[in-house]
Parts: sequence; structure tokens; C-alpha cells
Amino acid sequence: MSVQDILNKIDTLPPMPAVAVKLLEAAQDPDADMTEVAGWLERDPAMTANILRACNSPLYGLRREVTSVRQATNLLGLKKVVQVALTVLSSRYLTPSQEGYALAAGELWRSSVASAVAAEMVAQRTRYPNPSTAYTAGLLQDVGKIVLADFVADAVARIQQRVDEGTAWQEAERQVVGLPHPEVGATLLERWGFPPVLVESVRWHHEPERAELDPALARISHVADALTMTLGMGLGADGLGYGLREDAVRALGIGSSEELQEVLADLADRLARAADLLQAPKSNG
Ligand SMILES: [Fe+2]
Repeated sequence: MSVQDILNKIDTLPPMPAVAVKLLEAAQDPDADMTEVAGWLERDPAMTANILRACNSPLYGLRREVTSVRQATNLLGLKKVVQVALTVLSSRYLTPSQEGYALAAGELWRSSVASAVAAEMVAQRTRYPNPSTAYTAGLLQDVGKIVLADFVADAVARIQQRVDEGTAWQEAERQVVGLPHPEVGATLLERWGFPPVLVESVRWHHEPERAELDPALARISHVADALTMTLGMGLGADGLGYGLREDAVRALGIGSSEELQEVLADLADRLARAADLLQAPKSNG
């Protein structure tokens, strides 16, 4: 087992479809043509069906059912539809079980969507200028686990021993298997051509103080991860192996634990409304 083996495994994963990066760019472009973007998505019938199913879930509060991506884009706006599309695109990667982390099929997917929703909520609350970027950062922060799970499975007792001795989980991963899951996830997103701020926030979602390009985004991801775990989602082998950085919470302007509890209650409420969607992820192939 070596760092090279982990990097080789990254190369064996099917690449994220190129439309993902195009969608991220369109979401940041005030002149983006909504009809054109809807057209990219509608080219793929399986993806269209999954996007419509997600848009029609109570998570988005639409008053009437949408039957085309174009209609969804008009009613929800481009940024929201891009979020939904990225959620659908990532489901094929995040849905399988990740045995090294003791996550059954669907668990990494559910906790990733929960982290995405949490990150968007924290972003809105702390007036971070781009909540939809925060959503994507939350969604993909643990994507490295899909590469590292097999390596962790072979070494989980040694990782756990170091965690029991006081080492943070991601540091124990680095020491025992050579790379931690945030680094692996960042490398994966780099290969997929994702923007540097998203790569950075994935790399430092457990150590947000190390982010330089956009520290607020890394802090938001970090807090979103902690909120999701507090709700008992994604608690696999590593569930108790991380600490919440109080300084990250304060730097975001969240002044009290009551305020954090309020966000947590809102998050639980929104996720409860999305229960159907989260229970039965449909792979996009
Ligand atoms: Fe993580």
C-alpha cells in the first residue's frame, strides 16, 4: 500500500462528466443562457428524470410539479437547478457502500447531501456571498472516501488506535495509509477540472485554518460537516474522530452555541422534508 497505489485508484474512477464543470461555470456567469444550460441537461434522459424527481421533492417547496428542466430552471433559477444537477451527477459516486468507513450503501450519499444543505444554510446565515458554491463544497467534501475506503479497510485497526491516542482521524489516515481523505478528494476534484476554491475547501474541510484562497468556504464546509455528524448522519468508523474548530465557528460570525443549535434545528427540519429523496437515491448510471 503506497501513495502511488491511492493515486492509481483515482485514475481508475470514471471521470465526472464534463457537463459538471460547465454547470459550475454557468452558475457563476450572470449572462449564462438558462435555455442553453437546460438543453445540456435534457440531452440525458436518465439525468433529466432524476433532476425532475429532485426538483419535485418537498426540499425545494415548488407549488406545482415541474415536467421539464427548462420549466424547473424558470421556477427555481439557474443556480438551484445546477445544485440539483450536481447532486444527481455525484450520486453515482457517493451512493455505493464504503466499507472501510463502515458506511452502508446510501449513507455517504445522504450525509453528503445533508452537508451540502447545511453548508448552504450556514453560508446564507453568515452572509457568505455564494451559497450555491458552499452547497457544492459541502456535497463533495468527503468524495475522497470513495477512493480511500479500500485502503482504510485494510488499516482501520491501526487508524483507530492512533485516534484513540488522540490523533485526529484525517491525520491518522495520513500516517497509516499515506494520504488523508480530504487530500484524496481534492486531488480527485483537481483531475475533474473543478475550480480551485472548491478543491481547497475539500482539502481543508477538517483543518479550515489552513485554507488561503477562500478560508470562509473551508470554515463553512467544516461547520456543515460537524452539524451533519451531530444529526447522526455519516457516522461511520470515523464519526467520533474529528473535532469542531470553535475558532472557525467564531470567524464565521456565529456568536453562540444557541445560534448553532438554531441552524441545526433548521437543518433537521429541511432534511426531514427531503426524507423521500434521501432514502432512495437513484444512480445516474
Ligand atoms: Fe471528511
